[in-house]
Amino acid sequence: MTTAKPLLTINHLFTSFRIKDTYYDAIDDVNLTVNENEVLAIVGESGCGKSTLATSIVGLHPEGNTKVIGEILYQNENLVNYSEAKLNKIRGNDIGFIFQDPLSALNPLMRIGDQIEEGLVFHTKLEKEERKERVHNLLDQVGIINPERVARQFPHQLSGGMRQRVMIAIAIACKPRVIIADEPTTALDVTIQAQILDLLLELQQETNAGILLITHDLGVVAEVATRVAVMYAGQVVEVATVEELFSNPKHPYTRSLLNSIPQTERDHDRLQVIKGMVPTLTKMPRVGCRFAARIPWIQAEEHEAEPQMHEVAPGHFVRCTCWQNFHFEEEKGGFEL
Ligand SMILES: Nc1ncnc2c1ncn2[C@@H]1O[C@H](COP(=O)(O)OP(=O)(O)OP(=O)(O)O)[C@@H](O)[C@H]1O
Ligand code: SF4
Ligand SMILES: [Mg+2]
Repeated sequence: MTTAKPLLTINHLFTSFRIKDTYYDAIDDVNLTVNENEVLAIVGESGCGKSTLATSIVGLHPEGNTKVIGEILYQNENLVNYSEAKLNKIRGNDIGFIFQDPLSALNPLMRIGDQIEEGLVFHTKLEKEERKERVHNLLDQVGIINPERVARQFPHQLSGGMRQRVMIAIAIACKPRVIIADEPTTALDVTIQAQILDLLLELQQETNAGILLITHDLGVVAEVATRVAVMYAGQVVEVATVEELFSNPKHPYTRSLLNSIPQTERDHDRLQVIKGMVPTLTKMPRVGCRFAARIPWIQAEEHEAEPQMHEVAPGHFVRCTCWQNFHFEEEKGGFEL
């Protein structure tokens, strides 16, 4: 096994949003690394902080009501302390990003070609003709059949799949070392979804980029991820290689998440999942473990006051200890897990 080469290292990251006069942590002490040539998948229910993590990395959170504290190390520098001007040099050049909704991320009034070219104007010294050629090559690379024509079109003239391909072309135009993809295929049908993911992986083989892939879809995770981080309510509860996570999930929340995908029709009737949902920000516990409320049958003394990540096997980290004596409610008095 080759040694992992860290590209992006996130240490003790806290991102909070102001609601009325109080700041609430949407990201609560997250520690993660994105390595060269890997796909680190981030999974977790809606509202658990996946997009907030992505926007924190590139400094694209709503202005005025957001506080980011901690370290996001890229080439030994902390992006959290970067000025807007310095972040602009990194965004698109070193770190490319693809967001869930390409229609709102693309400028409706600007031709596709010009939008792809923007990054090249900003980050490279290419001449106009060279840039045009590169735009066409990029469109071709992301599987767009008539690049010259599409370059002259506007976003609303393209299908959802085409727009997402354009977003990818923009994200990879400057060959970034890190690509952040927030639900890049959620809005697309299954065939196009597979094509877009294949495309990302092909590009990765060329550049050895590290990809942070945010997705709801555990099928996608199984197919493309190298490692997986499971998030619950702004906290990472488990990190492992994809094989380890699927074959040996430990944290009750991970197990519940995996159980929520029925393997067969019959499973629908007897899924063992943890009931409830991620609390909204203002309802999150401000101290202690945010997950404890989801498993009320665990005795108070079994919770850790300050839950930590523990390495339970090489590279497999689980938060706290409740995985050791956790049973799904349906299994109580039933079989041992
Ligand atoms: N700008 C904001 N102001 C206040 N609260 C916010 C803001 N952005 C996100 N939140 C809250 O932060 C929490 C995390 O939201 P986030 O969008 O990161 O979740 P997510 O995991 O990406 O969800 P989804 O799977 O639905 O995309 C949620 O409770 C959300 O309501
Ligand atoms: S045992 Fe630990 S991780 Fe599990 S619910 Fe309690 S405090 Fe949270
Ligand atoms: Mg999101």
